[in-house]
Amino acid sequence: MNLDLERIIIDEIEISRRVKELGRDITKEYQEKETLLICILRGAVFFFADLCRAIDIPILMGFVSLSSYKDGTTSSGKVEERQKLMADVKGKHVILVEDIVDTGLTLEGYGANLLSRGALSVKICALLKKPEQKHDIDIAFKGFDIENRFVVGYGLDYAEHYRNLPYIGILKKEIYS
Ligand code: IMP
Repeated sequence: MNLDLERIIIDEIEISRRVKELGRDITKEYQEKETLLICILRGAVFFFADLCRAIDIPILMGFVSLSSYKDGTTSSGKVEERQKLMADVKGKHVILVEDIVDTGLTLEGYGANLLSRGALSVKICALLKKPEQKHDIDIAFKGFDIENRFVVGYGLDYAEHYRNLPYIGILKKEIYS
């Protein structure tokens, strides 16, 4: 285990098992639909890559960077589109693939934005969900509910570090306080 972690909360085997289940759920629900999965960069990158390969129907892929965090461990309260969406959503059924939903601020409004650009439907697939969601978003496909602690690994970072850990763990408080 990385020494900066307090403990691992989800190991590689659990992640892989759950991602395959989510892939099967999406496969069932999106038969015969033109489906576009959008990776919310950069935290969802490994989840997105594994999820796409667990889906057994033809899909399209898009990438966008949205952020409400500024190198820290709490929300700044402002969403910024750091990198524009590289895909046309018109006429597509869209699944937004996110690493973690905390307050829900990052995704609130973005679904409506994609619908106004011609998406036929927009659903959210999030690997992790914290208990403090404040904004009104529905997570159609959810990996795990976790406690309200700052976690890193499997794409999730603290100031761009720890993304390449293959598991998800709680970062020691002394690292960021
Ligand atoms: P929300 O807008 O408050 O739901 O925050 C979602 C975004 O905040 C995620 O996409 C992450 O980038 C970041 N975030 C929230 N909690 C954590 C965490 O525990 N570790 C790493 N990033 C987090």
